[in-house]
Amino acid sequence: MTKVTILAIESSCDDTSASILRDGKILSNCIASQLIHKEYGGVVPEVASRAHQVNIVPVVTKALNDAAVSKEELTAIAFTLGPGLMGSLLVGVSFAKAMALSLDIPMIEVNHIQAHILAHFIDSPRPGFPFLCLTVSGGHTQIVEVHDYLKMEILGKTIDDAAGEAFDKTGKLLGLDYPAGPVIDKLAKNGKPVYKFTEPSIPNLDFSFSGLKTNILRFLQKNVRQNPEFIQENLSDICASVQERIVSILINKLSKASSQTGIKRIAIAGGVSANSGLREALMEKGNIEGWQVFIPKFEYCTDNAAMIAMTSYYKYIKKDFVNQDISPKARYNF
Ligand code: KG4
Ligand code: ZN
Repeated sequence: MTKVTILAIESSCDDTSASILRDGKILSNCIASQLIHKEYGGVVPEVASRAHQVNIVPVVTKALNDAAVSKEELTAIAFTLGPGLMGSLLVGVSFAKAMALSLDIPMIEVNHIQAHILAHFIDSPRPGFPFLCLTVSGGHTQIVEVHDYLKMEILGKTIDDAAGEAFDKTGKLLGLDYPAGPVIDKLAKNGKPVYKFTEPSIPNLDFSFSGLKTNILRFLQKNVRQNPEFIQENLSDICASVQERIVSILINKLSKASSQTGIKRIAIAGGVSANSGLREALMEKGNIEGWQVFIPKFEYCTDNAAMIAMTSYYKYIKKDFVNQDISPKARYNF
């Protein structure tokens, strides 16, 4: 029987990534991160798009070489269709189209958020169905009920900022580098959550982080007025306090979702799932509530093409292919 060998491409934001999958197993996963955005304190879409153009050929070549697979062996090409930055997505989609056309093989479109969730199927332990997944990234915050590999339902989502944005925007206020999530995580380890920030009262399973952002801004302005060195002198405690509040907002909603649905298999996914405070809090809550908890490996938390490859494999089995008319989608719900 012919082997299923897929090249997957991820280019939705500021990481250019390519991965090779064979018969459900990831053979390689290469990522070129765009450090240039640090200078601007956030991702600049036009700069990201240009950097993807520079990175895509070397990254795909490396993914093929690492996997010891030639392009003639590929049986399909998968790519992120959305959601993401239009200019960034365009590079991946155009590259995938050109390569699929030249090799005369099918193409598979993948939803980026669905892929973050299905990253849990790259390695063991794999969750059974149904499970709840908190997807927390720079652009998204959702609680998803996962019925099957490709059957998912969004139970709640943010009505303004995403959890990753809350970390990144706080980092900007504190003068930290972008992306600030990992920096705050590191600094929080040396601090204590002595400052109590507000927890928004948002109905249902939805989230909001814009009020928290304003709360932090006012808190900093007030304290810096009294002591210009306040941030430098208390940076670790501020980071620990901000992280504790963001984590408690996330865990409380997950808990509510579990009570409402009766589902006790709980997973986290997306860039913010790399946060050590969130990982610890989830384990702790899981022990109390009797949850079976699933936390992805660090390398599969932030954007990567292995998760795109994994998702495309389930679509390949169903022969869920797309034709050359397909266009990237900045917003794309599953
Ligand atoms: O999933 P991802 O790589 O890209 C998007 O799809 O947005 O997530 C990036 C986000 C950024 O906001 C970054 O600050 C956050 O994930 N992040 C973290 C950590 N590592 C990455 N946030 C908190 N703690 C971390 N350790
Ligand atoms: Zn992502």
